Parts: sequence; structure tokens; C-alpha cells
Amino acid sequence: MCLPGSVTLCAGRGVSVVPVLSVEGLSVGFDGVSALREVSLRVEPGEILGLVGPNGAGKSTLLNCVCGLYRPGGGRVLLDGVDVVGERPDAISARHVVRTHQEPRLLDNVSLVDNVLRGGTTPGVRDRVAGLFGLPSGRRHRRDDLARADEELAGLGIEQWRDVAARSLPYDVRKLGEVARARYAGPRLMLLDEPAAGVGAAAAETLSRRLRFFARSGTAIVLVDHNIDFVTSSAHRVVVLSAGEVVAVGLPEDITRDARVINAYLGATEPDQA
Ligand SMILES: Nc1ncnc2c1ncn2[C@@H]1O[C@H](COP(=O)(O)OP(=O)(O)O)[C@@H](O)[C@H]1O
Ligand SMILES: [Mg+2]
Repeated sequence: MCLPGSVTLCAGRGVSVVPVLSVEGLSVGFDGVSALREVSLRVEPGEILGLVGPNGAGKSTLLNCVCGLYRPGGGRVLLDGVDVVGERPDAISARHVVRTHQEPRLLDNVSLVDNVLRGGTTPGVRDRVAGLFGLPSGRRHRRDDLARADEELAGLGIEQWRDVAARSLPYDVRKLGEVARARYAGPRLMLLDEPAAGVGAAAAETLSRRLRFFARSGTAIVLVDHNIDFVTSSAHRVVVLSAGEVVAVGLPEDITRDARVINAYLGATEPDQA
């Protein structure tokens, strides 16, 4: 496959790319109720994989397995070819994996820009001491960090909110702020759980463009949403989950025409229409 804007994948015929994420036969149950059944998918460097499905399909559960919050009952989660099932969430985030949440989790009393800065790696002791005493190297680090955080805010069109405490931010700015913070961490794999839910059409379009920009720099993205239009306009490839199972995989334009996908959605929203 040759994705638009992806140098890695277009290196030449026959070049096989190790996926950033490979999920193989993943199964999860809660109290005997199956939430995921034998789910497999892969995401390559620079690829945005859309993961759609009705509420309760298992989308967030899959993200939770990848970032180590849930331990699957069966199957494997490979990051750059390494099986990470059983690793703690902090060990997985040290592999440059970030996750955003359906409900944004910014620190309420902290300004937007400082929330973004906290997405980065903890500064080393030397940097912190230099910063504390106002030494030139500390000031330089802080200036560089701030410039990078501002760039992320501007990229998502929310820079005018930079100094406002998170608790006073409108909901859509909080949602985009989480994406800015995730990106600031310099991830290799971003797991985005419904980043456009509750966000207006114009902001969702900005987000979509920005995600494509992240992907062009090589970041792999799993984009979860139940809004199939948002996902199909953003992703390179789409996986459709329904009741814990993959019902379709394909290019966005094919997915929207797929009868199994239409059934999965209509089945969830219009049960009495048959
Ligand atoms: N921690 C949990 N405990 C019990 N059941 C859960 C838990 N997390 C998810 N589930 C169940 O797993 C199924 C899939 O949920 P979820 O992954 O949140 O769906 P989605 O994100 O697609 O809306 C649902 O039936 C949900 O109730
Ligand atoms: Mg969910």
C-alpha cells in the first residue's frame, strides 16, 4: 500500500514495513460477556486507521488493551513487532504511545498551554535546577518548549485560549487541547478516542487536516469515532467493529457503501425499521 504523503511506505516494491501496531486475535470479556472477539488489525507508520462502530462495539476497549489498561483474555498486541501484553501502562507509554479519552482529562486548574507542556517528557534534574535558578540553559529549554506547545495549539486553531485555566475552557477547546497535549509528547502511535465528539464542524475539519499533517511526519494514528463521516474523511483505511467483531475493513470510500457497515449502523440506531 502506498499512502499519500508517506515516504516510508513508498520506498519501493516489495519493501515490507513493520507495523507500528499489530493487534492479533484479540479477545476481551467482562463477567463472561464478550466485548472483543478475535479482533485483528494493523497500523503502519504514517497511517491513520479509522476505527468505527456503534456505541458498545468495543472501540474504547481495544484502545485500553493497546495502552495496557486492560489485559486481554486472548491474542497479542505488538508494538514495533514486540508483544506488549502484560506490560504496565507507563511502560507502554514509554514506547511513545499516547491515548486521548472520550471525556477530556486536562488538569482543571492549569492553563491550556501548561497542560500541553505536561504532555512532554519530564525535564531532567539539571534542566529543572537550571530553570529554577533562571540559568540561561533553563530559560532556553523553557522557551523552546513553549514555542513547541504554542505551535500545537495554533495547529488546532485554539492558541487564543492558551492562558485560560482548563476548567474555564469550552468543551471543544478541551477536546482539542487533549490532542495538542498528546501530540506534544512526540508520539510514535496516537490512540484518539472520539476526538471530534462534541466538536463543531469547522473545528472537526481543522482536526482532520491536522491529523493528516501528523501522519505525514510518520506518526501512526488509530482514530476512533462513531461518526463515520468524520472518520472516512480523515483516515487512510477504516476498520468497522460491531458487537466486538470486525465486520469490514477497507478504504473509506468502500466502507461507506458496504452493506455490512450500513447494517451495523442501522441495526444500532433503527431497530424497529425492519
Ligand atoms: N471496565 C468494564 N467493565 C465491564 N464492562 C465493560 C468495561 N469496559 C467496557 N465494557 C463493556 O464492553 C463493551 C464495549 O464497550 P466499549 O469498548 O466502551 O464500546 P465503544 O467504545 O465502542 O462504545 C460494552 O458492552 C461495555 O459495557
Ligand atoms: Mg468508547
